[in-house]
Amino acid sequence: MQMNAQEITELLEKQLKDLHFKPEKVGIGTIVSLGDGVAQVSGLEDVKMGEMVEFPGGIYGMAINLSHDTVGCILFDQGGTLKEGDTAKSTGRVMEVPVGPELTGRVVNALGQPIDGKGAINTKKFAPIEHKAEGVIHRKSVGVPLQTGIKAIDAMIPIGRGQRELIIGDRQLGKTAIAIDTIINQKGLGVQCFYVAIGQKQSTVAGIVKKLEEYGAMEYTTVVVGTSSDAAALNFIAPYAGCAMAEDVMYAGKDALIIYDDLTKHAWAYREVSLLLRRPPGREAYPGDVFYLHSRLLERASRLSDDIGGGSMTALPIIETQANDVSAYIPTNVISITDGQLFLESSMFYSGKRPAVNPGISVSRVGGSAQIPVMKKVAGNLRLSLAQFRELESFAQIGSDLDPQTKAAIHRGQRVVEVLKQPQYRPIPVAKQIVIIYAVNAGVLDSIELSQVADFESKLYNFLDAKYKDLQESLVTSKKLTPELEEQLKKVLAEFKDGFSK
Ligand SMILES: Nc1ncnc2c1ncn2[C@@H]1O[C@H](COP(=O)(O)OP(=O)(O)OP(=O)(O)O)[C@@H](O)[C@H]1O
Ligand SMILES: [Mg+2]
Repeated sequence: MQMNAQEITELLEKQLKDLHFKPEKVGIGTIVSLGDGVAQVSGLEDVKMGEMVEFPGGIYGMAINLSHDTVGCILFDQGGTLKEGDTAKSTGRVMEVPVGPELTGRVVNALGQPIDGKGAINTKKFAPIEHKAEGVIHRKSVGVPLQTGIKAIDAMIPIGRGQRELIIGDRQLGKTAIAIDTIINQKGLGVQCFYVAIGQKQSTVAGIVKKLEEYGAMEYTTVVVGTSSDAAALNFIAPYAGCAMAEDVMYAGKDALIIYDDLTKHAWAYREVSLLLRRPPGREAYPGDVFYLHSRLLERASRLSDDIGGGSMTALPIIETQANDVSAYIPTNVISITDGQLFLESSMFYSGKRPAVNPGISVSRVGGSAQIPVMKKVAGNLRLSLAQFRELESFAQIGSDLDPQTKAAIHRGQRVVEVLKQPQYRPIPVAKQIVIIYAVNAGVLDSIELSQVADFESKLYNFLDAKYKDLQESLVTSKKLTPELEEQLKKVLAEFKDGFSK
């Protein structure tokens, strides 16, 4: 076939006319230096703070240091396949994680990818991990209780939905146990739970997931995992990722509970990446913005006002102290950000008073207004009488000649302490808590041997379930402890004790 020049030009012109180029701007840079889990990249001029950066081999990072000529990125990978001179592409997207109901019952990593071997999670929505906390106008004060199911806490240090209550104490004193029991207790209470593990051993996390499954708590729980073998960057973003997932529940007008276990290790992960990025170290070698690291996270927990749905996010951050030193840098920071703290004490734990929450120095600054009215009345002077008992107890150790009044107070105090003990994985509904606390305050247990208190308690609960479901109901719903209600309580307790003593 012959073609002349004319035809060729026409053909070319036609083809070019149909060609539409869409200009696209992609930031391309080069890795100039690599450290343990961090990379310095030059040439990425338009990258935003918190933007995802793509590296060869499907490795992602996040820009967290924007300086004059380079961008400091943390890498979500420890593989070490990258090398200096590799290209880096900006993505234009700030770091996001999947959110939505599809995550319920799943175990995911800090990027929201499933790690439980139960297949892909087909979420329809993504949310940025960093989000500005809701302003004061759209917040409401805390008014609905968040029942932990733990007597010592619900009675004396009550927590409300939307509150931030710190769990603080040395290692191995039952900090995680309180958090897990609280999750287990949310069954049927309409609270969606999120447990964020930060820098923990994989085996520990696996154990926790197993327990949650065993108690049927995974049905309403998502576990976000950062382990000690993951890149520091993943441990650093894990709480923000979990927070974004819980926030989605809150903005849908529902109630969420999130546990950060623990923020000490979170601060360590942040210190690690900050030092690698050569940020100037400050006190205890933490970077200067370590306070903001936790305040911007915990401020996102709130109770929203009704005009934006009225949802809530309750946060229970955990801090591990060294030798009960709560005045160290990170503990004091987090204490000042939260609305109260549960102090766990080693002397209590080792003398068998578990959960080892010290009611003398633990506080809940806002939860009192959310406490169930009858509980508030019944448990009103529990703290005071416990404090008095502690004082008397030390007297009793010195001399044996005590007046009858002091003796009686000690006798009562010992029973109160016994009643506040509670085994792990056994949260108790609030109605039953009210009955037992009322009983011990009213002296019903005075004639019971100390060793029999636990038996008395569990039999009492069975008795209540078998015969007095309606009383339990009215204890929770009643606006106050009416004389009739109190009369009924007394009668029920007398009836039970009669049967118990026989
Ligand atoms: N109420 C309780 N009654 C009896 N044993 C308990 C109770 N709470 C916790 N324990 C036990 O105490 C030990 C420590 O508990 P847990 O792991 O919750 O502590 P932790 O403070 O989170 O520890 P770590 O510092 O290692 O994270 C566990 O063996 C647990 O079974
Ligand atoms: Mg723990």
